[in-house]
Amino acid sequence: SDSLRSAARGSGVRIGTAVDMSALASDADYRTIVATEFDSVTAENVMKWEAVEPEQGRYDWAAADRLVDFARANGQVVRGHTLVWHNQNPSWLTEDAFTPAQLRQILRNHIKTQVRHFKGRVYQWDVVNEVYNDDGTLRDTIWLRALGPGYIADAFRWAHEADPKAKLYLNDYNNEGVNAKSDAYYALTKQLRSQGVPIHGYGMQGHLGVQYGFPGSVFDNVRRFDALGVQTAFTEVDVRMILPVDATKEQAQAYGFSTLLQACLLARHCVSYTVWGFTDRYSWVPGVFEGQGSATPYTEDLQRKPAYQALRNTF
Ligand code: XIL
Repeated sequence: SDSLRSAARGSGVRIGTAVDMSALASDADYRTIVATEFDSVTAENVMKWEAVEPEQGRYDWAAADRLVDFARANGQVVRGHTLVWHNQNPSWLTEDAFTPAQLRQILRNHIKTQVRHFKGRVYQWDVVNEVYNDDGTLRDTIWLRALGPGYIADAFRWAHEADPKAKLYLNDYNNEGVNAKSDAYYALTKQLRSQGVPIHGYGMQGHLGVQYGFPGSVFDNVRRFDALGVQTAFTEVDVRMILPVDATKEQAQAYGFSTLLQACLLARHCVSYTVWGFTDRYSWVPGVFEGQGSATPYTEDLQRKPAYQALRNTF
């Protein structure tokens, strides 16, 4: 029938969206599109650490559980986002308040508690998010400073212990094409696999902009991870533009969305393609990138853009 979800059927690639839980509660049209157009969902915010453990030891799973229930009711899978990150951590989690040994215990406990809570209900986890800089050096974060680079392998081991069936992912932005950052991920993936660390997937967020052009080497990049035997996924695709919108930018945007989808469909082990919000009505882009917007496949009025049609036709 007439949806991305039906177009994707049989392709081996799940079509997903990030979900804004307040929109899901208040906006019936939004809810209908999530349910009918997609077969995978990701929490845009409610599975992040600040949301699930606002005070140390007090967990709040309510919003995340609502998403998991919604997904189950609609025959969808859930990507878990995210266990280890340098943003959107709870305010109690500061470097001064704890020793490195305590921080290690805190991280371990966080990962184990969260993965266990969703065991069997979240099929993929972004275990570590954005751990490299664009130049391929490790990002200077609370985790690197307190625990050293071994925290990445530890995070995967802890997550695997808590749910041995979940597929465990690295995830980042500006890592779609072949470049210094994706080279670092390639080397890391190889190294962790050779050490027997349970890592199963490479996530590329896919936050693009028409004014930057599109990475031409996406397929080459996806293919080299294919060859390592790990899954790949596009996890947060949006294609922003400098406002105002015009027909040329909309066409370029459609091309950007479909180029990433093509790379996924051409690959052997690319298993999902998720948009970071499907409508401009709730997109994070205008709030973060001054003067930019219109980054999703639906307008604020929930009209389908050329990008929507391009995704449909590419499947
Ligand atoms: C963004 C959300 O979309 C916003 O609502 C929130 O205010 C900030 O985070 N990379 C990621 C996502 O991995 O978690 C981010 O999501 C966008 C960039």
